[in-house]
Amino acid sequence: MKFKKNILCIGAGYVGGPTMAMIAYKCPQYRVTVVDINPIRIAEWNSDNIPIYEPGLGEIVKATRGRNLFFSTDIEGGIRDNDIIFVSVNTPTKTFGAGAGMAADLQYWEKTARQILQYSVSSKIVIEKSTLPVKTALAMEKILNYTKNSVSFDVLSNPEFLAEGSAIRDLENPDRILIGCQDTKSGLAAREALLEIYANWVPREKIVTSNIWSSELSKIVSNAFLAQRISSINAISALCEKTDADITEVSKAVGMDSRIGSKYLSASVGFGGSCFKKDILNLVYLCRHYGLDDVADYWESVVRINQYQQERFTLNMLTAMFNTLTDKKICLFGFAFKANTGDTRESPAIYITRRLLEEKAEIVITDPKALRNAKADLTDMEGKVSFVEDPYQAAEGCHAIAILTEWDVYRNLDFQKIYDTMTKPASIFDGRNIIDHKRCFDIGFNVYPTGKPALTHS
Ligand code: NAD
Ligand code: UGA
Repeated sequence: MKFKKNILCIGAGYVGGPTMAMIAYKCPQYRVTVVDINPIRIAEWNSDNIPIYEPGLGEIVKATRGRNLFFSTDIEGGIRDNDIIFVSVNTPTKTFGAGAGMAADLQYWEKTARQILQYSVSSKIVIEKSTLPVKTALAMEKILNYTKNSVSFDVLSNPEFLAEGSAIRDLENPDRILIGCQDTKSGLAAREALLEIYANWVPREKIVTSNIWSSELSKIVSNAFLAQRISSINAISALCEKTDADITEVSKAVGMDSRIGSKYLSASVGFGGSCFKKDILNLVYLCRHYGLDDVADYWESVVRINQYQQERFTLNMLTAMFNTLTDKKICLFGFAFKANTGDTRESPAIYITRRLLEEKAEIVITDPKALRNAKADLTDMEGKVSFVEDPYQAAEGCHAIAILTEWDVYRNLDFQKIYDTMTKPASIFDGRNIIDHKRCFDIGFNVYPTGKPALTHS
């Protein structure tokens, strides 16, 4: 069958897989290929056990795979045969050399640019889907257009705004699609070619265009703003705990102001995920690079408060449990960084587990989808942590439960049944404020919500 467009995506991760599956689903007239250097990941995408848990994704992959969606390790062939190339490789925080712990590590991205140059035998549109520092497109264009021959490259910025756990909904109904391009004849033509893809299902008024640098910066700033709201409400949750105010009531009252809005105002154990921290640190690095130290300090405080919230949660547990956790068994309800995903990258649960182990507690972890990743995150702690799928079994014999992920399944558990099997006094630390605190208190638990007065029996 002859397809109208041939699209390649380099990087079959949390972004590459779902975004390309959605394009293939909405555009049966296009052939979409996703390649990756990781053969295990590609094999999983080609199996019944796809590598990412994301509600609705399995169905879309099933409908498109082998029809117009293909997963492969043939990067060279992919680059050669496709004219539109999305790049969605990982861009983690640099762990070495200049900018370590702050700047984006661009090694994967640069390798990809060089591969594109090496294997291209015709002109291409190259689209930055990964989140990248401002001016990365310029560097990419320099690499790609280094050798002057008949093959030319137009680089576009088209950042992805999906959130994990709701990726399919976000991709199907995005708030906006952002496309940044160079203001040249070929840059504008490339933008039109990309716009045509999204126009298959996204209303035209939701497709925003900008210059390429604004597009790159907008992505990082969007994440910084979202994270800033969470740190703001988490900072206030600490004050609520000191003043007997209730963070849910404060958040509701504040969020009802239409200028503020109600989203991203749920107090928690802190934000996790692979991007918020990394993107803010990248913003901080960029500001310092341009001599804007006050601006950098402002954004850095968002990450600092997030760390504080995780440490505060751990110390609250220690204080409430008579200042010693040695040999006490603590069950963690949830290890994923948020509900509806198996992803544990930068999950507050990782830090909290390690801190509780430092206090010599015994840890049992339960999570509906993230146990595989949790085990990988804690390989160096083998023998000190156990993993139990069933929350009732996991809590048996424990002194305390800490709710770290807002999985729906934890809202409606039979807490009487759980209480009956636990060591007394039994405590619940609700890092997500998702359970009925009064009911649990009436059952007999000492209950420690986040940003609300504790309900204790002594
Ligand atoms: P990921 O680690 O899940 O996936 C990246 C993939 O790229 C990996 O499978 C890796 O093997 C592959 N890769 C690396 N170098 C390669 C190369 N040279 N050739 C082929 N494949 C290569 O990362 P992710 O979560 O999908 O994030 C990708 C980018 O998207 C990041 O910049 C991230 O900031 C951004 N982003 C992520 C999300 C999210 O929800 N995870 C949302 C929006 C934007
Ligand atoms: C976030 C953004 O929401 C996406 O727009 C962006 O594309 C993505 O980062 C990215 O660039 O990777 P994601 O990290 O997947 O998406 O998930 P969010 O729903 O934003 O949650 C992030 C963290 O904040 C989670 O740990 C969540 O539990 C926490 N959170 C969220 C709160 O603690 N309180 C809230 O009110 C909302």
